[in-house]
Amino acid sequence: MLLSELQKKITKILAEGGIETNSLDARIILREIFNFDEKELILNSDLILSESKISKVQKIITRRLNFEPVSKIFGKRDFYNSTFSISDDVLDPRPETEHIVEIANNFILEKGYESFIDLGTGSGCIILSILKENKNLTAVGVDISIDAINIAKKNSKDMKLEKRSSFLVSNWLSSIYRSYDLIISNPPYIPSDEIITLSKTVKNFDPLISLDGGQDGLKCYKEIAQDINRVINKNGRVILEIGYNQAHDVIKIFESKEFNLLKIYNDINGLNRILTFDSKKT
Ligand SMILES: C[S@@+](CC[C@H](N)C(=O)[O-])C[C@H]1O[C@@H](n2cnc3c(N)ncnc32)[C@H](O)[C@@H]1O
Repeated sequence: MLLSELQKKITKILAEGGIETNSLDARIILREIFNFDEKELILNSDLILSESKISKVQKIITRRLNFEPVSKIFGKRDFYNSTFSISDDVLDPRPETEHIVEIANNFILEKGYESFIDLGTGSGCIILSILKENKNLTAVGVDISIDAINIAKKNSKDMKLEKRSSFLVSNWLSSIYRSYDLIISNPPYIPSDEIITLSKTVKNFDPLISLDGGQDGLKCYKEIAQDINRVINKNGRVILEIGYNQAHDVIKIFESKEFNLLKIYNDINGLNRILTFDSKKT
């Protein structure tokens, strides 16, 4: 069988199995198996495949048909300008979260910030993407999951950012004893009852602790807001990812804790997804 024939076959099987990203996934699977980039995949379309390669591909297709995302199958995910190691212990980084990195980069430039904290760091995709672009900055990533912290540390080492990043197992701010210019979080925000309605790719493969925002989805925002004044510097700012319908409630939570809303950012579908706040501390 030729590579181009296998590509068509994978696309068809995945489409029939209800995988919406069938064509993209077929390309990713083949690129990974053959260690090709996108261009090499096209240039090698006439390659005659060995039985062993075909059988490797078949095993991966079986996993994908079970709705395991390709990023989890191969243990890595592109985010912003880097590739991150991921595992069953961390949320698969989402493209919409990349916007947080851009907003943070602008704040750092505008305000001359020197430090920040990333609450619920997961794979470390946010903290490490920001540190990579801002050479004078130091930051701390916090997560309640030790397995997530270990993945974030691995990514920090692979990206040679160990000297400017530290990682801590902590229940939000409970183990934090200094203060920061910028506080960033993409916390779990799905209401517990809604988790069952998520796609299998999400509910079966992202850890529950990275999704579950409690009964109303707002539990983590309330917990973070409770203690945040203790750890934010004067003129500090907060950047939060939120669920599409949570802007009103999260603004209320943070406005009740001495913060002014700065801006609401929408995703490409026009839904509210990121909030920024100014601390009233001067
Ligand atoms: C939505 S994920 C975000 C992961 C990563 N920052 C990203 O954007 O891809 C939320 C993260 O918060 C962590 N988390 C949940 N409860 C926590 C708590 N009480 N304290 C600290 N981290 C917590 C989870 O383990 C998970 O890694």
